[in-house]
Amino acid sequence: MIPMVVRDEALPERVTIYEVGPRDGLQNESAVVPLADKAEFISRLVAAGLPVVEVTSFVHPKWVPQLADAAELVALLPLDGPTPLPVLVPNERGLDRALAAGCPHIAIFGSATETFAQKNLNATLDSQFAMFEPVVGRARAAGVDVRAYVSMCFGDPWEGAVPIEQVVATGTRLLDLGATQLSIGDTIGVATAAHVGALIDAFGAAGVDVDLLAMHFHDTYGQALANSYAALRHGITTFDASAGGLGGCPYAESATGNLATEDLVWMLTGLGIEHGVDLDALVQTSRWMSGVLGKEPASAVVRALG
Ligand code: HMG
Ligand code: MG
Repeated sequence: MIPMVVRDEALPERVTIYEVGPRDGLQNESAVVPLADKAEFISRLVAAGLPVVEVTSFVHPKWVPQLADAAELVALLPLDGPTPLPVLVPNERGLDRALAAGCPHIAIFGSATETFAQKNLNATLDSQFAMFEPVVGRARAAGVDVRAYVSMCFGDPWEGAVPIEQVVATGTRLLDLGATQLSIGDTIGVATAAHVGALIDAFGAAGVDVDLLAMHFHDTYGQALANSYAALRHGITTFDASAGGLGGCPYAESATGNLATEDLVWMLTGLGIEHGVDLDALVQTSRWMSGVLGKEPASAVVRALG
């Protein structure tokens, strides 16, 4: 089954799906997935045509034990292959580990709110930039590409609504450090469609080219696909998603899984937007991973095609 294609010329012709299942997905599973299964998951995602796959995190292993095998995992992967396989890096210690492992693509992750900066990074909203500055500087000098995330862009479980200006100020500071892409995180999934448009417009008004932005939706309230559609209408062409809808953030209690890659692929296919992903191969991969985890996939499309 595939959706009928009806093209809307107002929407982009092509998007890049940035797959985060192995990192954002598996960091939040109570089960620790065996190393060989992680490597197989990543190679199947690459084989299914995902153009970027974020694979793990060089964070403190006690903070995220699920990803404590980061160095062993990346040693099994084709880091210099045609598909970028970025890793999360919070600080210089993480960068040292990523460089020693030969990672050519990293992502730093900042917070738009004070409370989450403390809970996720053990830093303040302001001091996080001092932590990231040498990471980005040293990475870029070593020829390593740096993406930046900004979390809690639409709401924060401790602080409530997050002012748009605060998100734009945080995001532009991360870009100013030298990051080449900014992923706008709806960490707890509370965004709604017009809020998404307003935030993208506010970045535009601050002089940030829309091509530098990616959207990172979690699907806690079932809004991730509607929000992605709103973002498409505002010219966004990079979307983060996780196979089967795995995911969440262990330091944000109300975060559930990301937008499911299959659900995004289904919508994009129907809209006639190129994405390069083989939906059948992806669904098979998510079903296999759901067997490894012993739980049903969250993705509606995986269940429907089951
Ligand atoms: P800290 O405890 O403040 O670290 O943690 P520290 O600098 O004080 O160092 C304490 C000890 O940890 C030292 O060892 C360091 O060497 C070691 P000791 O001298 O005591 O033996 N250490 C490390 N070891 C390994 N790797 C490292 C590292 N750093 C220090 N990188 C830290 C600060 C940032 C490390 C900690 O808070 C941390 O690891 N946080 C990560 C939390 C996390 O991974 N959260 C999930 C990812 S974010 C997310 O999911 C959101 C996103 O999806 C977007 C969205 O949805 O919005 C991206
Ligand atoms: Mg996330």
